[in-house]
Amino acid sequence: MSIDKNAGLEAVRHMQDRQSIRNFSDRPISEEDLNEILGAAITAASAGNLQPVSIIVERDPERAKRLGELCTNQPFIGKAPVNLIFLLDWHKLSLYAAARKAPFNCNDSWMHFATGLEDVMCAAQSAETAAHLLGIGSCYIGTAMHSGAEICEMYRIPPKAYPMLVLSMGYATSLPKKRRKLEKKYMVFEGRYPELDINDLCRAYDTKYEGITLPIPPDPSVREKMIEKFRRGLLTTFTPEESQRIIDRALELGYITEVQRRFGTHYHAVDNYNMGGHILEMMKERDMFPSRILQEGKIEL
Ligand SMILES: Cc1cc2nc3c(=O)[nH]c(=O)nc-3n(C[C@H](O)[C@H](O)[C@H](O)COP(=O)(O)O)c2cc1C
Repeated sequence: MSIDKNAGLEAVRHMQDRQSIRNFSDRPISEEDLNEILGAAITAASAGNLQPVSIIVERDPERAKRLGELCTNQPFIGKAPVNLIFLLDWHKLSLYAAARKAPFNCNDSWMHFATGLEDVMCAAQSAETAAHLLGIGSCYIGTAMHSGAEICEMYRIPPKAYPMLVLSMGYATSLPKKRRKLEKKYMVFEGRYPELDINDLCRAYDTKYEGITLPIPPDPSVREKMIEKFRRGLLTTFTPEESQRIIDRALELGYITEVQRRFGTHYHAVDNYNMGGHILEMMKERDMFPSRILQEGKIEL
């Protein structure tokens, strides 16, 4: 199907104006629009065209509220008229392969896990873009993985399938302030990877995060907790002495910077696996990829 160039350009420009929406009005999403959005998702590219993806459509407000609690307590999920739960799903293909006497072990392979996750993201991003082009706002939720076991139970998701992502969708009550992005020259490299100038790079990130800091809380016990969390993060990278110096500087300034917050108190690599349940353990329970690594310390035989 060809597209009128001007209409296409208008759509692309509109795509460049996207942003995550977390404040949803009561206005429902029409059946026709939802169908178009899902149509965009299921025609997305897929590695080997395996399509190891399933989408659960959640429209019930009570269940959506529970879903929000399971996704590390994000109440706006419960206010979205539609939530799409994207599964990495080897269950369907494993049934088909068994019925047709084909060998099957994609559910326990690193490469298939990686490409399957990419497929999930292609489908989800097609849905996000389609929704945006139809005037419907949305926000990804990455924390469904942390409660995979409970979400699987809630939606009767079979083994060899796991919720990777939720897309909460609805009409925005108002448009939030746009989040700043890195400049193009730090995201797109012509021909080859350039030598990066550390001062330029810092300036680029400082500009992106300008004005965003986390104040050190005045209450001594809250402050102490935050500093200890920060120290725990710092110690993964710095010596105890260096960590103390960084903490002293933060106390002097009265805040930690955004990059210190992101990697120092908010996104610990270890905690990321272990916020609700342990993601790899839960995936192993569901007969998903990491089972062999966890059993044998190996990735692929
Ligand atoms: C994989 C993924 C997971 C995300 N998870 C969450 C989430 O759990 N909660 C949330 O509020 N936003 C989530 N987001 C949205 C990001 O916070 C958002 O895209 C980012 O702050 C940039 O803002 P923008 O989308 O408005 O440009 C997620 C985005 C992606 C791509």
